[in-house]
Amino acid sequence: MKQYKIALLAGDGIGPEIMNEAIKVLKAVEKRHADVSFDLQEALFGAAAYFETGKAFPEKTIKICDEADAILKGTIGLSHEQSQKIPVDEQPERGALLPMRRRYNTFANFRPVYLPKELSFFSPLKEEVIGDGVDFMIIRELVGGLYFGEKKTGVDANGKRYVKELLEYDEEQIRAIVQVAFNTARSRKKVLHNIHKSNVLKSSVLWNEIVGEVGQDYPDVEVKHILVDAAATYLCLDPKQFDVMVMENMFGDILSDLGGGILGSLGLMPSACVGPEKSYYEPSHGSAPDIAGQNIANPYSMIGSVALMLDMSFGMKQEANNLWQAMQSVFAKGYCTPDLAKGRDVKLIKTDEFGDMVVLELEKMPV
Ligand code: NAD
Ligand code: IPM
Ligand code: MN
Repeated sequence: MKQYKIALLAGDGIGPEIMNEAIKVLKAVEKRHADVSFDLQEALFGAAAYFETGKAFPEKTIKICDEADAILKGTIGLSHEQSQKIPVDEQPERGALLPMRRRYNTFANFRPVYLPKELSFFSPLKEEVIGDGVDFMIIRELVGGLYFGEKKTGVDANGKRYVKELLEYDEEQIRAIVQVAFNTARSRKKVLHNIHKSNVLKSSVLWNEIVGEVGQDYPDVEVKHILVDAAATYLCLDPKQFDVMVMENMFGDILSDLGGGILGSLGLMPSACVGPEKSYYEPSHGSAPDIAGQNIANPYSMIGSVALMLDMSFGMKQEANNLWQAMQSVFAKGYCTPDLAKGRDVKLIKTDEFGDMVVLELEKMPV
């Protein structure tokens, strides 16, 4: 019997709603596999944790995460107005999410941007631009760069307020993510797009040097260098040219939300945050305060994060594939949440109905 301990951090906003669907699916998966059991440990995280305990990443949660085989996270964060009620350093992004990324050194963030051909009508891009669907992988460095560099705020001699925020990387950090990217490219189409800004940033100059060095070990992988600003345009005009893209933290944050735009909703963006010893899985998007509490959020990103966990942490590749297929079958039958409807002739469903339908589809599939 394989027993996996999973920390469940539902978080804020739509987090608890989409986490419920992830739990539903995990229980369905467990039922289908007599040799697998999931020990689900719920814990407070984010603003929800702050209001209850005074800490956004409380000790009790840290312990549960430390002891878990994998962590499944919902979403954290409040609306701009609400977050002003929390001291800056305890706001869920700085007080919970970044500390978790740092604690487990989850340096490799996989953000798949995927829509099969038959669902490409969800994309706002034209059919001729989409072609056979959308399928590329953003690999974002997640524990370096501007996010984790030295920060200083103060007042200068003339009384002017200033801020300094360093974009810091050392060669080891860059090498680690670049190796992950080359390995991923090798397992897919053997093309790697290196996204950089070496015409301005010294960090990109070092980054590109390392890409060149690591590339020596991957003669079978073709590397294409693209400036990040141009990459944003090419993603809109011709996303088909991309397969695996690697980039530093901030570039990856921005371009992966552009990926969500290409798909038609951030609700279609799951992710895996992989560290040397522990990985955690989360939707790429935020807590969507504008739709929270209405049972209308799209749980695909959350259930997709479960699929990534099954595949990458538990080696359950086949069941992960079943899960992707189950979700796509629900869409293919004309059902979707409002984020994807956009005035189309579809059958609108609620968050919990999507989860129920995914479970029904899954149950039809051979184990
Ligand atoms: P957001 O990603 O929460 O929402 C942007 C838009 O996408 C909204 O219109 C929202 O309704 C929609 N959306 C997002 N996920 C959806 C889903 N699953 N189904 C349907 N629609 C969905 O971005 P924001 O509004 O800029 O940020 C809100 C909060 O989330 C902020 O506090 C931010 O810091 C936080 N945030 C957290 C994470 C995380 O937990 N990893 C990621 C991004 C943002
Ligand atoms: C993401 C989010 C986070 C980030 C925020 C909430 C800190 O936008 O995971 O993309 O910027 O990394
Ligand atoms: Mn983001």
